Amino acid sequence: MTTKRILLDCDPGHDDAIAILLAAGTTRAELVGITTVAGNQTLDKTTRNALAVATVGRIGDIPVFAGHDRPLVRPLRTAPRFHGESGLDGPSRIVPDRDASSGHAVDFIVESVMSSPGDVSLVATGPLTNVAAALRREPRVAQAVHEFVIMGGAYGPGNVTQTAEFNIFVDPEAAAIVFGAPWSVTMVTLDVTHQAGCTRHVQRRIEELGTPVGGFVSRLLEFYRGAYLRHTDLSDPPVHDPCAIAYVLSPEIFETRSAAIDVELTGRWTAGTTVVRFAEAREPPAGRDLEHLDPRHRVPVRIDSEALYELIIEALRKLA
Ligand code: RIB
Ligand code: CA
Repeated sequence: MTTKRILLDCDPGHDDAIAILLAAGTTRAELVGITTVAGNQTLDKTTRNALAVATVGRIGDIPVFAGHDRPLVRPLRTAPRFHGESGLDGPSRIVPDRDASSGHAVDFIVESVMSSPGDVSLVATGPLTNVAAALRREPRVAQAVHEFVIMGGAYGPGNVTQTAEFNIFVDPEAAAIVFGAPWSVTMVTLDVTHQAGCTRHVQRRIEELGTPVGGFVSRLLEFYRGAYLRHTDLSDPPVHDPCAIAYVLSPEIFETRSAAIDVELTGRWTAGTTVVRFAEAREPPAGRDLEHLDPRHRVPVRIDSEALYELIIEALRKLA
C-alpha cells in the first residue's frame, strides 16, 4: 500500500491540533506540510498554535506556512467561545521551537501539489480561504491533487446559525469557489463528526499514554469538553477535524454517498449553508430535475467512532 502524502490547511483550534498530531503520528501517511488560515482565531494565533503543536509532537521537520488572515470578502469571525483567546486554551502555553517558514501558504499549496501531480492528499479543516486562493492562482490544482477532503458544512443543522457550519460560514465565497471547481470534494460534515464525540473513557486512554503528547491532548480535550458543556447540549465534544484526516487514512470506516453541493451566499439567515443534494435522493429535489444534478462530490453519512479513536490513539502513541 503506497503511503499517502498529506498537506493540511488548518486553523488550530483544539480539534485541528489533534488532526495535526494524527496526521504526523500515523504510519499510514506522511504529513508533508501544514498551512494556516484565520478562522478559530486570528492568523497570528492559528500559526503560533500550529507551531506549538509541532513542538509538542516533535515534528520540527514539517514546514508550517501562514496563509490568509481574513476571508475573501467578509470580515473575519473567530470562535473564542470554543477555543479561547489563544485559540488553544487549556494546556499551559507552549513556546514554539521555531518560526513559520518564509513564504505564503497559497504558494506552498500550489507548488507542493503541482510539483507532484496525483500525489498529494489535500485536507482543509478551517475556512477555505487558502484553498480558494490556490485554485485561483493555479486552476490545475483541482486535477493535480490525489484527493481533497474537508471538515466543514452540514446537510442537517449548523453550529453557527440554524443551517451554517463555522468553516463555511466564515468564508462562504471561498467555499463556493472550492465546490464550483472541477474536482470531487469529500466533505466531512457536522452530521458525521457529531456521531463521534470524545468520551471521558477515550480521554482517559489518551491521558494514560503517559507521554507529553498524551498529556497535552488530554488537557486540550478537557478545555474543549468544558466549552461544549457551556455552549451546547453535547457532553462529549465532537473532535471534528481528525475525522477529515481519518477519511484519508481509512475511508472504509465511513459510509459515503455522492452528492451535489452548493453554497448559499445571499440569504440573510442562511448565508454559509451547504446545500447538499444526494444523488440517490428518492424524491427529485423540488424545482430541480435530476439531470441538472452533478453529484461529483462525496459526503460521508456514517462514521465508525471506535475506529476513529483507535487511529488517533495509535498515532499519538507513535509520537511518544
Ligand atoms: O465547525 C467545526 C469546525 O470549525 C472545526 O474545523 C473547528 O476547528 C472550526 O474550525
Ligand atoms: Ca478547524
